[in-house]
Amino acid sequence: MDIIDLIKSRRSIRRFSQEKLDRNLLIEFVEAARCAPAGANIQSLEYIIVDEPQICEKLFACLAWAGHVKPKRNPAPGQRPVAYIVVLADMDIKKNAAVDAAAAIENILLAAAGKGVGSCWLGLIDREKISQILNIAPKYYVDSVVALGKPAEKPVMEDAKTEDTKYYLDEKDVLHVPKRPLKNILHFNRFNGK
Ligand SMILES: Cc1cc2nc3c(=O)[nH]c(=O)nc-3n(C[C@H](O)[C@H](O)[C@H](O)COP(=O)(O)O)c2cc1C
Repeated sequence: MDIIDLIKSRRSIRRFSQEKLDRNLLIEFVEAARCAPAGANIQSLEYIIVDEPQICEKLFACLAWAGHVKPKRNPAPGQRPVAYIVVLADMDIKKNAAVDAAAAIENILLAAAGKGVGSCWLGLIDREKISQILNIAPKYYVDSVVALGKPAEKPVMEDAKTEDTKYYLDEKDVLHVPKRPLKNILHFNRFNGK
């Protein structure tokens, strides 16, 4: 698929089929993250692939899903992610690596989408509990968790009709994701104040 079509069609997925993901595929996603840009090329990020069902279950308890439609996109048993990539930042290397992590995570999301794998970036997470469960040393900041699995829902993107960009569910339980229209956010050569 053309890269721009891939970017446009990627959506956060919160319902997953229970088909296992090949470990090598997960490693490829981390390889994509490793290639991301980093400020001054100072690379402080590390990754934990979690694909053991028992650890997945423990990790799931540390996550919060789709606050705007709570609890309707909280994955039920049988819909939960089958793997995760936990993104860590070594604070001895860089104090705040949030922007680097964002670039790396977007690479993971797009790499996954390119392979037909659904993903959800999770930032509202219980960092302390995750560090305990995964035995993470204190110098690492748990930046984010990326949930992964084959998609079992098809959210749709649309142009936001108002300033309200909250995602919502329709009567068929399809998740709609409004994005601000291009005409509202794009300027040429100078800022055209409105
Ligand atoms: C920094 C960041 C943190 C996020 N944290 C969560 C989260 O904790 N739980 C969740 O369900 N979705 C989370 N998301 C996913 C967003 O809700 C989602 O990207 C947004 O609704 C737009 O949908 P889209 O990804 O399909 O374009 C997060 C996204 C970002 C960029």
